[in-house]
Amino acid sequence: MAGKPTLDLNPVVYDITGESAFTYLARAKALAEQGMDIVSFGIGQPDLPTPKHIREAAKRALDEGFTGYTEAAGIRPLREAIADYLNTRYETDVKVDEIVVATGAKTAIFMGMAAFIRPGDEVIIPEPSYPLYAQVTKLFGGRPVYVPLSWHGGQEGFMLDLELIEANITEKTRMIVLNNPHNPTGAVFTSGEVEELLSLARNKGLVILADEVYDNFVYDGISFHSVLSASDWRDYVVYINGFSKTFAMTGWRLGYIVVRSEIIDRILDLATNIYSCATSFAQKAAIEGLRGPWEPVKEMVSLFEKRRDLLYELLSEVPGFDVWRSPGAFYMFPNVEEAIEATKMKNSKELADTLLERYGVVVLPGTAFPDKAGEGFLRFSFSVDFADIRKGVARIKKAIEELSRA
Ligand SMILES: Cc1ncc(COP(=O)(O)O)c(C=O)c1O
Repeated sequence: MAGKPTLDLNPVVYDITGESAFTYLARAKALAEQGMDIVSFGIGQPDLPTPKHIREAAKRALDEGFTGYTEAAGIRPLREAIADYLNTRYETDVKVDEIVVATGAKTAIFMGMAAFIRPGDEVIIPEPSYPLYAQVTKLFGGRPVYVPLSWHGGQEGFMLDLELIEANITEKTRMIVLNNPHNPTGAVFTSGEVEELLSLARNKGLVILADEVYDNFVYDGISFHSVLSASDWRDYVVYINGFSKTFAMTGWRLGYIVVRSEIIDRILDLATNIYSCATSFAQKAAIEGLRGPWEPVKEMVSLFEKRRDLLYELLSEVPGFDVWRSPGAFYMFPNVEEAIEATKMKNSKELADTLLERYGVVVLPGTAFPDKAGEGFLRFSFSVDFADIRKGVARIKKAIEELSRA
C-alpha cells in the first residue's frame, strides 16, 4: 500500500526567513488600497527607469530573435564588458573565464556561498546586514556568526569592528561577508578597513564574500576601494556585483560572480542546474549599460546625493534622532533610541509599525537587518523624490512630537 503523501518539510526550511522589507511594502500597499496616502522610504531600488539606451538594446535583441538559451556563463561580449569595467575601474586583471553571469546578485551570492559552506562551517556576518547571507549559510548547514559594526554616533557613523571580527574567528570559520558600500547603514568602508579585513582572511585562510552591488553609489567625492584592487584577490575573494542598482535594472534579474577559474567551473555546474543561463536579451542590453554612455548613471547618483543631503538635513531636526550623513548606497540609518524612549515605544519595530499604520510612512526597523545590532535604528531609502522626502519627514516629526506628548 502506498504511503500517505507527506507535507513534512526539511526542517532547515523553517529556519529560513524572508526579507521583511517586502512585508512592509505589502502592508503599505494594502493600506494604500484602503485609501491611505503613503510615503515610502522602504524601497531598495532606484525609483528611476532603466536608461533608454539599455531598454532600446533589449528591444533590438528581441526583434532580432535573440530569445533562446545562452551559454551558462553568460554571453562572451557581456563577460568581456564586465571584465573591462572591473579592470578599468579597479586596476585589476579579471579574465573573462573568471566570470559567471547570474539571475541577479542574489543568485550569484547563493552560488558563491553554496560552493564553500559545509555543514558546521561558521560565516562571520557584520551586522546589521542584508538578510540573504545568513539565510544561505543556514540552508547549507552553516552557522551565521553576527559581529556588530561599531557605531560612533552621527559624526562618524558605522565602521567595521576588526578586533571583534578577529576575536570571533574559530577553527570552524570559513567565510567573512563584506558588503561595501553597505546596506542598510550606507557606510563605505575605507581602504584601511578593507585591507585589514583582507589581511585577516589571508592570514587565517578564510574566504571573503565581497558584495559590491552599490559600488557606484558613493558620495562626497570619496573614493571606493574594491577588494579586487588587492593583487592576490584570487587566493581568497568571491566577488559579487550586478546591474540592479547601478543601471536601475532590478526587474531584469542580472548579476555576476567573479572567482578564480578552477572554482568558476564548479559555479558553472551550479548555474546550469539552477537557472541554465540569465535572460538572453537582458544580457545583450546589459552590455550597452557597461559600454556607456554612463551619463544617466552619473546623473542618478548626483540626484541621489542631493536627496541624501535633504533627508539628512530634515531628519536631523526630528527630536531624538541621531543622524549620520551616510556616504554610500542609498540608505540612511539614523539612531532613534531617544525617540523610542520619548514615545514609550518598545523598540524600533513598534515605532516603524506606528509610523506606517498611523502616519502613513514606510521606514524599516533596523532589526529587519539581522541580527540584533539594528535595534534602536530605522532604515530610510533616499530613492524617493524631494517632495516625498519633505512630506514623509514632516509626518515623522509630527508623529514623534505627538507620541512624546501622549
Ligand atoms: C547588499 C545587496 N546585495 C544584493 C542585492 C540583490 O541584488 P539583485 O537585484 O542583483 O539580486 C541587494 C538588493 O537589495 C543588496 O542590497
